[in-house]
Order: sequence, then structure tokens, then C-alpha cells
Amino acid sequence: MSETSTAPVVLSAKGLVREYPGKGGLFGRKAPLRALKGVDLTLHQGQTLAVVGESGCGKSTLARILTLIDPATDGELTIDGTPIDVARERPSAQMRRKVRIVFQSPYNSLNPRQKIGDAIGDELLLNTDLSATQRRMAVLEMLERVGLLPSHADRYPHMFSGGQRQRVAIARALMVKPKVVILDEPVSALDLSVQAQVLNLLAELQADFGLSYIFISHDLSVVRRISDEVMVMNAGEVVERGPCEAVFSAPSHPYTRQLLEATPSTDTNAIRERIARRAALRAQKDNAS
Ligand SMILES: Nc1ncnc2c1ncn2[C@@H]1O[C@H](COP(=O)(O)OP(=O)(O)OP(=O)(O)O)[C@@H](O)[C@H]1O
Ligand SMILES: [Mg+2]
Repeated sequence: MSETSTAPVVLSAKGLVREYPGKGGLFGRKAPLRALKGVDLTLHQGQTLAVVGESGCGKSTLARILTLIDPATDGELTIDGTPIDVARERPSAQMRRKVRIVFQSPYNSLNPRQKIGDAIGDELLLNTDLSATQRRMAVLEMLERVGLLPSHADRYPHMFSGGQRQRVAIARALMVKPKVVILDEPVSALDLSVQAQVLNLLAELQADFGLSYIFISHDLSVVRRISDEVMVMNAGEVVERGPCEAVFSAPSHPYTRQLLEATPSTDTNAIRERIARRAALRAQKDNAS
């Protein structure tokens, strides 16, 4: 699928840096924490770019910058051909509509006292001039589109299963017709069978709406199934990137190899590859000694 990378670029970043203030040490201020140390990325129209790496490597920090929720300390960002001032606290609403995010646990981002139809409709209330009736119709249509029922609009978040709540979060993200959706561990909290359903839905929506995804995940077997390109992060830096198959079948960076080794898998091909990789590593060591 990587030959489609001739598709137009919808989002690109160069040298993104994010520093968080250091916590005050015993003798005054500590050095700032550099959560991102100069990250570059390119996302093509209709493609899925996976971002993988262990906890704390900066994936969600990157997600919040790309979604214009948080500013960056330095770097360049272009969304749909428009350069963004990444250091600005509140970029224009028009730009923020182009990139939407779905979090791991929509329970935290949905107001427990708001009916989900209203939560989804608020996206249109805030961002469009549509009338209340038009908004309602659009919400009902989107609920059906994500595999829920129109009658669900009048239910509260706690009345849904985890998978359904994630469908609500996806519906809400899509209401303003974004170009890019950032999926930050979107299925990690779900059972395997529900994961598969939500991943299928995401694939359908991507094809129907021509969406581009940045898919953040710990689960390399999921990443492998759905991504075109992958970038591997370690401690705020990209250590390896490339077409998904190429990176997974022949990882060139030791950190990527470690990550793959650490991933339990029931996929026989993956297991076969892992055995072959270990054998190759052993042979290398034997030759060296
Ligand atoms: N608001 C913040 N203030 C200070 N430090 C932060 C803040 N947010 C994140 N960090 C730090 O920045 C680093 C990167 O965090 P981030 O949440 O981006 O990692 P992650 O890759 O998403 O991890 P996980 O896989 O656990 O979600 C961590 O060291 C984290 O402690
Ligand atoms: Mg995170």
C-alpha cells in the first residue's frame, strides 16, 4: 500500500520540540523535560501512519500538538497546505477543525450528564451555522454511520458499552469533517472482538470520507494490520520510520527490534519471523566471538 504515498500530503511536521517545565528540585529549578526532541513526520491523504513506542516516549504529547490542543516549544507544522504557528496557544478554529482526536477512554472526554446526541451535536453548534433541526438530522445520520441507532442520541454515556462509547467518540470527531483523525490508543481498552469491530469501522470510515489517520498504539500486531507507514519513537525521538511491512519484517534500529521482541503475538508469521530474527542475532554474536 505504500505506493499510494504519492497521494497529496495532508499534514507535515518538522523539528517539533516540546518542553515541559522541570519540577523544582531541592536547590531551585530543574532543567525542563524535553518530551519531544525534534520530530518530523509526513502524512499522506487517505493513509494511516502509526506511531509506536513505549510508555512515556512522547506519543500523546505529539498527538496534542498535531491536534492543536497544546502548543509546541519549537518546530514547523503544516496542515492541509496551511503553515501553523505551533507556539500559539489558540490556533484558529478553522485549522482546529481539520484535525480531530479520539482518545483511549472516551469516558473521560464525555460529560456524564450530557446526552450523547447533544455531545455530538455541540461540535456543529460550535463550528457551523446549522439550525437545531439540521444539527439533529446530522447527528442521527452520523450515529447510524458509526453503527449506533438514532434512538441512542437520547442516552447518557454510562448507558453504553466501551465499544459503543468509542463509536460515539468517533462520531463526534467526524462531525466537523476533519481531514485528519488522530487515534490515541483507540482500541487499547476494548476486548479483542470489540477491538476488531471498531478497527473495521475505522477502516470503512477512512475509505468513505478519505480520512488520513495517525494511529498511536502499543499493540504492534494491530499496527501491522492497519497501517501504511510506521514511525518508532524512543524518548522523544523518531528512531525508525518506513512502510509498515518493511519496518516490521526487517527492523533496522535495535530499539525497534527490542519492541518487536517484547510483543507477544499469536500470529504465526510474526512468530516465525521472530524465531528467524533471534537465530540471525545468535549467528551474528557467534561470528563476533
Ligand atoms: N503536562 C505535562 N507536564 C509535564 N510533563 C508531561 C506532561 N505531559 C506529559 N509529560 C511527560 O512527557 C513525557 C511524554 O509523555 P506522553 O504522555 O507524551 O507519553 P506517551 O508516549 O503518550 O505515553 P503512554 O504510552 O503511557 O500514553 C513523559 O515523560 C511525561 O511524563
Ligand atoms: Mg499516551
